[in-house]
Amino acid sequence: MKNYDVISKRALGLKPSLTLEISALAQSLKKEGKNICSLSAGEPDYDTPDFIIEATQKALKDGFTRYGPAAGDSELREAIANKFSNINKIPTRLENILITNGGKQAIFNLFQTILNPGDEVLIPSPYWLSYPEITRFAEAIPIPIESSPVNGFIIDIEKLEKYITKKTKLIILNSPCNPTGRILTIRELEGIAKLLRKYPNISILSDEIYEFLISEDACHVSIASVAPDLIDRVYIVNGFAKSWAMTGWRVGYLRASNSVIKKCVALQSQSTSNVCSFVQRGALVAIQKEPSGIKYMIKSYNQRRKYLTKCINNIEGLNLVPQDGAFYVFPKLDSNLGASLNFCKKLLEEEGLALVPGIAFGDDSCIRISCSVSEEIINDGLTRLQSAIDKIN
Ligand SMILES: Cc1ncc(COP(=O)(O)O)c(C=O)c1O
Repeated sequence: MKNYDVISKRALGLKPSLTLEISALAQSLKKEGKNICSLSAGEPDYDTPDFIIEATQKALKDGFTRYGPAAGDSELREAIANKFSNINKIPTRLENILITNGGKQAIFNLFQTILNPGDEVLIPSPYWLSYPEITRFAEAIPIPIESSPVNGFIIDIEKLEKYITKKTKLIILNSPCNPTGRILTIRELEGIAKLLRKYPNISILSDEIYEFLISEDACHVSIASVAPDLIDRVYIVNGFAKSWAMTGWRVGYLRASNSVIKKCVALQSQSTSNVCSFVQRGALVAIQKEPSGIKYMIKSYNQRRKYLTKCINNIEGLNLVPQDGAFYVFPKLDSNLGASLNFCKKLLEEEGLALVPGIAFGDDSCIRISCSVSEEIINDGLTRLQSAIDKIN
C-alpha cells in the first residue's frame, strides 16, 4: 500500500481552541499538585440552577430519551421564537429557529450552509477565537479588521468598508464581546446597518451569547431590531451556556430566515441529528424564566467586573478602558512587558497564573482576564500578575 497523508487539507489547517487548551493545562498542573491560580475561565462559576436540573430529570423519567426532530424540540423552538419576539422585539416564528449543540455548532452549521470557498468574512478584532477557524473550515477567508484598545475597541465603520470586496459575504458582530466585554452602541449598529444597505450581498452574523450579562445601566440591542428591514440578512446566534451556567449541556440556537434554517436542519440531520432530547426540556424551563431567573448571577458578574477593572487600572503597565459586558476584561500590556504569548507563558511558569494571551483573539498586545471566579481568586491572581510585572520592570 502506498504511503499517504490521511488528514484532509481542510483539517490540516484546523487549530484547537487555545482557551480550552489553557484551561486544561491549568487543571492538569493543579492535579500535579502545583499552586496554580487560573483567571482563564470562559464559563460561569455558578452551578446550573436546580429548577433546570429538576425539569431535565423529569424529562428523563418521562421518556425524552429517543431521537427527536433534527431542528429541535418544537416547544423549545416556539419558546425561543417568543423570546425573540417579546424581549428582543424581533418578530420570529418557530420556523426561524434551529436548536444546536451550543452556540459554537450554530455558527459551524451556518457557515457550512452559507459560505462558499473563497468567500471573505470580515471579523472585527479582537474576536472570539473560533470565528476564523470555523470560517476556514468552510474554505472561506477570515479577514480581521483591527480596532484599538486605546479607544476601547470601537468599530471603525469607514475602515470596515475599506475591506469590503466583491467576495465579501459576511460580517461578524459579537456584542457583548468575548474577549473585550464591549457592547456595541445603537449608533454603531445603525452605522453598520447603513453599510449593509449599500451592499445587498453581504449578511451579518450577530453573536449575542452574552446578551444578558451586562451592567445595570447598559443595554444590549440586536442589529436585527435596529434594522428590521435587514432581517433576512441577519443571523443571530445565542445559547444557554453563559446566561444559565449550562456550558456542559451544549444547547444553543440560531435564528435565521426559514430557507437557511431548512438547509441547516438538513446538515444537522446528516451529522449530529438532534441535540440531546432531555437536555432540551431543561433549556425550555430556562428560557421561560429569562432574564428574571438569572438576575443574581448578572449582579455578581457586574460587581466582580467592576472590581477587577478598578484593580487592573491600579497596576502600572496595564491599560484598560472599562466595559460593561460579559465576564472578561482585556487590558493592554505596556510594550516593555512584551507580546502576550510570551508574557502569559512566563506568568504560568514563574507565577503559576493562567491567563489567555490576546494573540488568541487577534491582538497580541492584550491579555484576557476572567472575573468568573471568586474575589479571593481575583486577588490572588492580581498579586501574581503584579509580581511578574515587578520582575520585568
Ligand atoms: C462569543 C462566543 N460565542 C459563542 C460561544 C459558544 O458557546 P457554546 O458553544 O458553549 O454555547 C462562546 C463560548 O465561549 C463565545 O464566547
